[in-house]
Amino acid sequence: MSTSMPHAFDPTLATAAPWWRPRAGDRLVIRGGRRLFGRYPISGAKNAVLPLMVSALLTPHLVTLHNVPASLDVAVLATLLQRLGVGLAWSEGSAGLSLTLCADQVQPGRIDGALVARMRASVLLLGAILARCGAASLPLPGGDAIGLRGIDFHLAGLRAMGARIELHSGLIRAEAPDGLHGAEIFLPFPSVGATENLLLAAVLAQGRTTLHNIAREPEIGDLIGCLCAMGAKIADTGGGVLAIEGGVQLTGAIHTVMPDRIEFGTIACAAALTDGEIVLDHTQAALLGAAGPLLAEAGVALEPIATGLVARRAPAGLAGIDLTTQPFPGFATDLQAPVMALLTMARGASAVTEAIFEQRFRHVDELRRMGANIQVQGRTAWVRGVVRLQGARVTASDVRAAAALVLAGLAAEGETVLDGLDHLDRGYDGMAEKLVACGADIIRSVAG
Ligand code: UD1
Repeated sequence: MSTSMPHAFDPTLATAAPWWRPRAGDRLVIRGGRRLFGRYPISGAKNAVLPLMVSALLTPHLVTLHNVPASLDVAVLATLLQRLGVGLAWSEGSAGLSLTLCADQVQPGRIDGALVARMRASVLLLGAILARCGAASLPLPGGDAIGLRGIDFHLAGLRAMGARIELHSGLIRAEAPDGLHGAEIFLPFPSVGATENLLLAAVLAQGRTTLHNIAREPEIGDLIGCLCAMGAKIADTGGGVLAIEGGVQLTGAIHTVMPDRIEFGTIACAAALTDGEIVLDHTQAALLGAAGPLLAEAGVALEPIATGLVARRAPAGLAGIDLTTQPFPGFATDLQAPVMALLTMARGASAVTEAIFEQRFRHVDELRRMGANIQVQGRTAWVRGVVRLQGARVTASDVRAAAALVLAGLAAEGETVLDGLDHLDRGYDGMAEKLVACGADIIRSVAG
């Protein structure tokens, strides 16, 4: 947990996440042009820790998570869980920030709508609460403005497991008075959230659930690892199919959250973009899937060392690439924006196609304000590399757009002021502070 910068205090989250400080009105002032050298500790993965925290709802026993990232989404989910009656205990030690959750009593009626609206991943509560309590009522979740992000696969899967679900004026009401039962479920698309939600529900449902066309993101493997440590019976039968023998009494578990592969890919881009050299501990190139070889082609060199990887610019410099976002092991949509920031300064042209979300180019206008040459046609952004970016006042519209604008600010001449900092805070634990430790000139300006 990084605490070196002054932060305002957000009282809403204070009880459940006493370490939380930043507030939405903060902004970053980045003076670009410095080469970054040093060691950047990659935090636990945001997309892994959220379902892991929810998994504690499935058991009355203690679940302890190590390497928890101190980010806004974690603070919001902790607050949601606390309001549901889950006991939380935080500690800090050699394994980073640790959280022990105790869901010996769950009060499903106490979901906080305002908090659910702050985070899309709160929909994961639905499967777990329904499976544990037989009923759940949840406002439709909020989160990033990056597309439709329906939850129809989640609801169809839970219905197949015996839930009765109604949607009324922005509220999801679900009940399974006789409990959930196993089912054969085919996901129309390998949705990360739907896979996790249905997995969480299936572990407690009576009988066997077969889940076809699951998402294969590494964070799902992390969740399966933790659930199996709690005694769940989950078999990966290959070909994107999971077989879950439900109805098991779960114990507690102690689990270390996997490293954040998106933060890792982003900071590797920062090293190459600023022509610096950054040591990334506890990481391995395989976590990047198809993005690994593509980043190498773009001029991001990753050298394995005993403790992880060293990232730097390849001797031939940065070069344009064509990429299309895909479910894992394809190129991660969460790396699209940061990699686009890199490509704005690469030699030649790049075609960046976003195939997962419909509205994930909202960083393009902001990058253009900084001098980037990008044209969008449908789902493809055509990027022509420029020799320099200029600092500007820019606003982040989602978590990954925020990271992209930080990268652009680090490479730009002059001063970049980044608003919409709550988006950066949602997904990253102290990114600005960790970059400062590598030589970046970044000041967090606290809201008045
Ligand atoms: C998760 C990640 C997010 C990442 C995304 C894709 C978390 C907390 N968030 O989001 O960072 O960008 O995976 O890798 O892990 N869809 C439907 N109906 C559904 C579910 C999904 O149409 O019921 C569509 C969505 O609109 C989207 C696509 O499927 O176009 C992928 O969504 P999904 O994989 O579910 O993403 P999230 O779980 O929301």
